[in-house]
Formats: sequence, structure tokens, C-alpha cells
Amino acid sequence: MTVFNKKSKIQDHISNKKGDNFTIGFVPTMGALHDGHLSLVNKALEENDICVVSIFVNPTQFDNPEDLKKYPRTLEKDVLLLKTVSPNILVYAPAVEDIYEQKAVAEHFTFDGLEHEMEGKFRDGHFNGVGTIVKRLFEIVKPNKAYFGEKDFQQLAIIKKLVEKHNIPVIVEGCTIYREKSGLAYSSRNERLKPDYKAAAPFIFKILNTAKEQFGTKSAKEVTEWVEKQFNNHDLLKLEYFVIADSKTLKPVKRKSKSKTYRAFIAVYADDIRLIDNIALN
Ligand code: PAJ
Repeated sequence: MTVFNKKSKIQDHISNKKGDNFTIGFVPTMGALHDGHLSLVNKALEENDICVVSIFVNPTQFDNPEDLKKYPRTLEKDVLLLKTVSPNILVYAPAVEDIYEQKAVAEHFTFDGLEHEMEGKFRDGHFNGVGTIVKRLFEIVKPNKAYFGEKDFQQLAIIKKLVEKHNIPVIVEGCTIYREKSGLAYSSRNERLKPDYKAAAPFIFKILNTAKEQFGTKSAKEVTEWVEKQFNNHDLLKLEYFVIADSKTLKPVKRKSKSKTYRAFIAVYADDIRLIDNIALN
């Protein structure tokens, strides 16, 4: 397994492999790798000859400087973990200057309104940062397929839109959410949860499951009010938003239609750590 820090080096390596007709599966990450990331890596390895994993904490997608500072950086551990998975993995772990030559600033994108919902409302400029880094990484790695988790369902929808709008020749694959036994979705941020918050956090998935049951007979408004009440009564977890939205447009549902699919999206603060999750409702 090889670790590259410079885009020119990994580009040379990949173009040689592509010359040999190898297919490239790509998993972009910000590191602090966990089983959720590995589920994407394993899918990429099953479907391609080589898997490229990028590890880069992208400054332009953080609206909160404190969150960027505290984001876990565990490159050595990540590389050791990937070594145990397969020899057919290439790691690209650049410094900020290899991606953003002068100043780390995001480009501006429009994603047909997807960017204004949920995370877009609460994390100013976040999806411009995500669009900027993923577009650059696609240009560097030139993958045949790229893998993104449904854990960040809105991000996945936005990447599909980015690829469509900019005619990027890559197939974007969505991967199901990988959860701890407790139901808590794996996240790099879980590492920072203090024990009592870690113990409380599976409540999020429990609520999503009950919301799903209720959605069969109740309106989106009734379900939302019920969820809000559960968090109002909670000592440790603070609800930022709970939204039931159309899975395609990500617009909040007004009236249910049998021909549409819906998802519930949630963001919760556990202490100063922000956790997100979502679930398909029908
Ligand atoms: P990061 O949070 O490191 O996640 C990398 C990829 O792993 C994303 O596609 C995310 O959805 C997926 N992932 C994380 N937890 C998961 C879980 N529990 N189950 C399944 N997939 C999971 O998302 C980012 O990084 C960044 O925004 C990035 C796309 C790398 C751009 O900087």
C-alpha cells in the first residue's frame, strides 16, 4: 500500500495503472477512519481493481473554526488500518497547499436548491466547500466510480448533482449507513463523545425508527412535533432540526403522496459535538 502526499505523484501512478486498464474506485474521506468508511472501501475494492482513499480535513467546508480545529487527525492510525484491509489501496493524504495553492477558499456552486435545505440552513457555505474539494479530488484521481455514504444523504445528492452539472465522467455510488450495535451511526466525531453522551447518543436512531413507524399513520407535522417533544424532555441531547423531506428534491413534505419516497433527517448536539443521521420512511 502506498501513501501519496503530492497530487503530481498520485496522478502519475494512477495514469500508469489506467494505461494497464485498471479501474479506479475512489473513497474521499476526512480520516479518523471507522467501520463506516471501511464499508465504502470494501465496496470499492469489490467493484474495481484499485481503491484510492483520500484523507484530507477540508478547511473550506467548516463553518465553525473550533470544529475544524478539533476535528480528529489520526493519519498514522488510518494508514495502519487500511493496510490490514488490502494491498490494493492507494492513500492520498495531501497538505492544504497541495489542494489550495494560494488561499483555502471555496468556489461557488448552485445545486438546484438542494444546497438550501437542512445542512445548508445550519452550516453556512458548507456545500460550496464540499463541492470544491470533491470536484478537485475527482480531477486529480479521475476515478471510474466514487463511493459516498447515505449517512450524509444530502451530501450524496449534491455530489450526484455536481457530477451531472459539470459533466464529470464518474459513476457515483451511494452506500447504506453503517451503525454500531447500539444503532448509533459510525462517525469520526463519535470519538470525541464523553461517556455519558456516547451512552445517550443511540437515542437518535431509536427516535428515527419510531418516527418511521408513526409516518405510516400520522402526518409529517404530527411526527415532527412528537420528535421535538422527545428532545425537549432530554437532558443531554439538543435537537437542531428534524425534517421529513422528499428523498429526491430534499424539500420538506407538506402533504404525503403515495408516488413519492420520503426520508427523515436529524441533527443533534451531544455537548458541543454535532451528530447527523437519517432514515428512509417508505
Ligand atoms: P467523512 O465524514 O470522512 O466521510 C467520508 C465518507 O464516508 C462520506 O461519503 C460519508 O457519508 C461516509 N460515511 C461516514 N460515516 C458513515 C457511516 N456510518 N456509514 C456509511 N458511510 C459513512 O463526508 C466527508 O468526509 C467529506 O465531506 C468529504 C466527502 C470527504 C469531502 O471533504
